[in-house]
Amino acid sequence: MLPRCAVRVCHVLVLVLCLSAAEDFDWTKNDRGSFYYGTFPAGFSWGAGSSAYQTEGAWDKDGKGLSIWDVFTHKKGKVQRNETGDSSCEGYYKIKDDISLMKELKLNHYRFSISWPRIIPTGIKSDHVNEKGIQYYDNLIDHLLESKITPIVTLYHWDLPQVLQEKYGGWQNISMVNHFNDFANLCFERFGNRVKYWITFNNPWSVAVEGYETGEHAPGLKLRGTGAYRAAHHMIKAHAKVWHTYDTQWRAKQKGLIGISLSGDWGEPVDIGNQKDIEAAERYVQFYLGWFATPVFHGDYPQVMKDFIGRKSGQQGLGTSRLPTFSSQEKSYIKGTCDFLGIGHFTTRYITQKNYPVGRSGSSYFTDRDLAELVDPRWPDPGSEWLYSVPWGFRRLLNFVKTQYGNPMIYVTENGVSEKMLCTELCDDWRIQYYKDYINEMLKAIKDGVNVRGYTAWSLLDKFEWDEGYSERFGLYYVDFRNKNKPRYPKASVQSTQLHMEMVTEIVVPTVCTLSILLSAIFLMFLLRRRN
Ligand code: NOJ
Repeated sequence: MLPRCAVRVCHVLVLVLCLSAAEDFDWTKNDRGSFYYGTFPAGFSWGAGSSAYQTEGAWDKDGKGLSIWDVFTHKKGKVQRNETGDSSCEGYYKIKDDISLMKELKLNHYRFSISWPRIIPTGIKSDHVNEKGIQYYDNLIDHLLESKITPIVTLYHWDLPQVLQEKYGGWQNISMVNHFNDFANLCFERFGNRVKYWITFNNPWSVAVEGYETGEHAPGLKLRGTGAYRAAHHMIKAHAKVWHTYDTQWRAKQKGLIGISLSGDWGEPVDIGNQKDIEAAERYVQFYLGWFATPVFHGDYPQVMKDFIGRKSGQQGLGTSRLPTFSSQEKSYIKGTCDFLGIGHFTTRYITQKNYPVGRSGSSYFTDRDLAELVDPRWPDPGSEWLYSVPWGFRRLLNFVKTQYGNPMIYVTENGVSEKMLCTELCDDWRIQYYKDYINEMLKAIKDGVNVRGYTAWSLLDKFEWDEGYSERFGLYYVDFRNKNKPRYPKASVQSTQLHMEMVTEIVVPTVCTLSILLSAIFLMFLLRRRN
């Protein structure tokens, strides 16, 4: 998620912080906080998620076209150990098997994504629609519904058709807006009678920053200081167009909802008494979640992004800001294009103010923010390098969404933790702890009045983790990738708690205890009476 270089900087900063300022630093924020006993609202939806490229495999089967990830992973040196998603979990062939896992977990919903090149091989609808691809998603949706599991469907989870990248430069080009709209329209036409929850984009931040700024993700471009802003601009326009298409052409008939899924780490000021740190932390969140959420809810980029990128562009001698602008018609077209907001959240950072003068460091999304990210070395970090378990950050982020965007309907579309080591014993007790703590913070946020309607554990299965290959396992189910059949095994997080049960038993446990004490007392009284 965070570029590796940034993580490294983070670690160095942590060291420096420990050596130089350990005494001043407020470590008390490390406290887990107390457990809140309560219940989730009736109808709250529990689910798990996946995405097409990460799980389907069958990369060249049944008429599927190439995606930018197929091409990227086949180049040497792009992914750890040069792994690819060619076969991944073979999810394409395991619809029934995987749905029985979902039933084991008692899921209310399953979040998956549609591979654009699987149903439109070149990405351009007028070229060709691949009926075999359509058939696959038809089957998946039908089987889910038969099992009373609601499909939540993402249209774009990063696998752009390669032809669109080669012909037009992918999200650098405004023509993606219409091609994406055609693809979305086809999905509404063919699946919309059964799918009632649509997500246009998954985590466009990653697409923009890692795809077009750092180049760590496909298509691997390093257009520092401009590429990410341009890609984001076009994705926001594409999102708005697809929302309007659904709203005007399909909503009345299909009665579904359409939103966007944004990811955001929480940013906490290092020193809450220091105004500069407070502003830097707010900037961190605005440059992350706010970059996309503010246009979608308020029609334009966060003021702080316009100010900082505009000022730095001026200092570079550029005539206009590197952050593109929306016309006033575009602003009103984009504003309000969100029936629900998907939130993907995994971790938190401490933030402090740090100036990056233009001349010395050149321009980039990262230096535009004028801040430094820090982590508390005592935060548990069982999995990915960037993923520290900081449950209280989740509650703060959810409250931020409530206050900034008018308390929208929220579905948590991703939350979970990976594991570094090979979890051969399947004893992922840290994952149980992570889920328990994060879910409880979400419950506190609901008590605060945040309108959270559903929660999606990320992810159902271990799967291809982008540039990290198969080295980071997020699954509730372990997948043996060395075995051709890709068998799935439940980890302890499934076996011992059955995720769903864990979410509700916290209030049952004290009740059972209380009951047992009461029953014992009654029994004791009965014995004493008989004696007398
Ligand atoms: C967000 C991405 O949407 C998802 O595909 C990925 O697995 C998680 N981050 C974990 O890195």
